[in-house]
Amino acid sequence: MANTMGIRGYDYIEFYVGSAKMVAYWYAKAMGFEIKAYKGPEYGSRDKISYYLTKNNIKFVITSSLSPANYEVNSFLNYHGDGVKRWAFVVDDVQKAYSYAFEHGAIPISLPHKTEDEHGFVEEAVIKAYDASEIVFINYDNYKGIFKPGYSAPIQKINLECKETGLIAVDHIVGNVRPNEMEYWVDYFTKTMDFERFIYFGPGDISTKYSSLLSSVVRTRDNTVKMPINEPYKGIKKSQIQEYLDEFHGTGIQHIAIASKDIISSISALRQNGIDFLSVPDTYYESLKERKLNIDEDIDELKKHGILCDFEGNGYLLQLFTKPIGDRPTFFFEIIQRKEQSQGFGQGNFQSLFESIERDQELRGNLV
Ligand code: FE2
Repeated sequence: MANTMGIRGYDYIEFYVGSAKMVAYWYAKAMGFEIKAYKGPEYGSRDKISYYLTKNNIKFVITSSLSPANYEVNSFLNYHGDGVKRWAFVVDDVQKAYSYAFEHGAIPISLPHKTEDEHGFVEEAVIKAYDASEIVFINYDNYKGIFKPGYSAPIQKINLECKETGLIAVDHIVGNVRPNEMEYWVDYFTKTMDFERFIYFGPGDISTKYSSLLSSVVRTRDNTVKMPINEPYKGIKKSQIQEYLDEFHGTGIQHIAIASKDIISSISALRQNGIDFLSVPDTYYESLKERKLNIDEDIDELKKHGILCDFEGNGYLLQLFTKPIGDRPTFFFEIIQRKEQSQGFGQGNFQSLFESIERDQELRGNLV
């Protein structure tokens, strides 16, 4: 059960977007986040602007460029469109975590460094993941401010009331990579951060009539964080993972799964807030009923909200995917509720979920 890197859990996830102010408003209004801190020209940041939002244990940073000179943000947006640029793990000791990762082959981005203000200091170090993503090791033990140095209280107060979404924490973060790259990234996580491979879905395990994919889940040995990795696999038509790679113009984060303690009320609230979810055929619930499963929820209630249910060894899970949230068919959210120590990823639902994604892929003219 060792966690060699001293990873305590997920921390912030930073998105690069075209207009941070409008996207922050969307996260507040549709997903129920609160805008807690801000970094912009008023506080000396002249070439980029960031909003820091939280919802229970979930922390998002939404960043945009303010200048053509900001190559880092502009080049990401130019290639990939809106998407996840980096995600952070809180670690016990940044220097130790970085040294372990670097000595085991991690590609360095930033050496361990401190930033400080009147509230104390934060330590961070950064390594590379996928084409243009980054993993941050961060520690706030010596900081008492809202987020980290450079961020201050938001300037603009907006009335952002919405239906309570009940979103609690990040459950897993999923990356999509090119054919034959999955094993490289499984190795990267297992070697540089001492993760273990937890699940492997090989050829034929996840496929629809037309397309197919391979998937592995890597995690810390104590299950603190989980990072599934998908790659396209050959099928009659284009894999949905290939569609992501084509539209994102590279590898990166496909979805973030967010845990809820009451998925029925979460999905209901999110729908009322305007979030669009994948649609599940009625036949899915007919076969769910036929299986005579012992679950707390009423299957007709799950059907009403379009929620999927899957059993595995230690319990069961309820889940649903949103449609892609941005302009390109790339990034989306999963809402998940784990019951009775469930540790799976909904393998029994893959068929229904991926067929649903495929129907949308076909509408976009990308199922070729
Ligand atoms: Fe997932």
